[in-house]
Amino acid sequence: MPEIAYVNGEFLPLERAMVHVEDRGFQFADAVYEVIRTYRGKPFAIDEHLGRLFRSLEGIRLRHAFMADDLKALIAEAVQRAGFAESVIYLQVTRGRAPRHRGIPSQSEPTLVITVREFHSVAHLRETGVSVITVPDNRWARCDIKTVALLANVLAYHAAREAGAHDAVFIEPDGSVSEATAGNVFVVIENRLSTPPKGPKILSGVTRDKVLQATRSAGIEAREEQITKADLFKTEEVFLTSTTAEIVPVIAVDRRKVGAGKPGPVAARVYQQFVRMFVQK
Ligand code: PDD
Repeated sequence: MPEIAYVNGEFLPLERAMVHVEDRGFQFADAVYEVIRTYRGKPFAIDEHLGRLFRSLEGIRLRHAFMADDLKALIAEAVQRAGFAESVIYLQVTRGRAPRHRGIPSQSEPTLVITVREFHSVAHLRETGVSVITVPDNRWARCDIKTVALLANVLAYHAAREAGAHDAVFIEPDGSVSEATAGNVFVVIENRLSTPPKGPKILSGVTRDKVLQATRSAGIEAREEQITKADLFKTEEVFLTSTTAEIVPVIAVDRRKVGAGKPGPVAARVYQQFVRMFVQK
């Protein structure tokens, strides 16, 4: 089965997909993106993802004429052409091609890229759990915009891998937890769930929202409130959420065990409810 790309009006094999060297996505990371996965071949929570894409486009003042329905049709066609059992859809919009200058060009046409690759499950991580390190959050102050400017995330993830950990969790100068390099953070204290509140410090995850709904519907209290680095060492459970990983339990932070040092019961219960509510429906 082919890995498919759509670039500005044309479907082609991923290997042959190109954008111009003067594309502002390449020159300035002047671009935003979404990652969507399928369940049983259907893009999951597509309205939520496209809603966030439009907010990101507005956040970077990118003028465009995209309509949600057109994007949905392109995504459906790309998924169908690729033909994988389950796909990961990557969608990126850049401010387009213009001679390199930091000024926002008045005329450039946005570049739209969609790629479809096969989805590979990381369900085994729910059995084993993962370890994380903490790193200073040295990203820009608009993490709510899903921009492709991910160098801080790339370096933090690399630091985690070098330290033998799975991922890194960003910590603000005041000691509060923001998020992981590609996922949101939840902690369990006295059977109650907490996750940092929406705002410019985090990307408000689609999975985060669904997990909050699943938690409450399972009869577990869930709060959106500040959590601190110190909390990570006191909690019974920590887990990460994202589109591709769903819920992944964290069993060690900075080499110190979380709770019993194995995936905990609350994460498992919340995951079960997430599947019941959103995956099996
Ligand atoms: N990342 N925070 C960050 C910094 C992210 O990059 C992501 C998603 C999330 C979780 O968002 P969602 O639940 O909507 O996937 C939180 C995607 C998957 C990625 O960059 O691959």
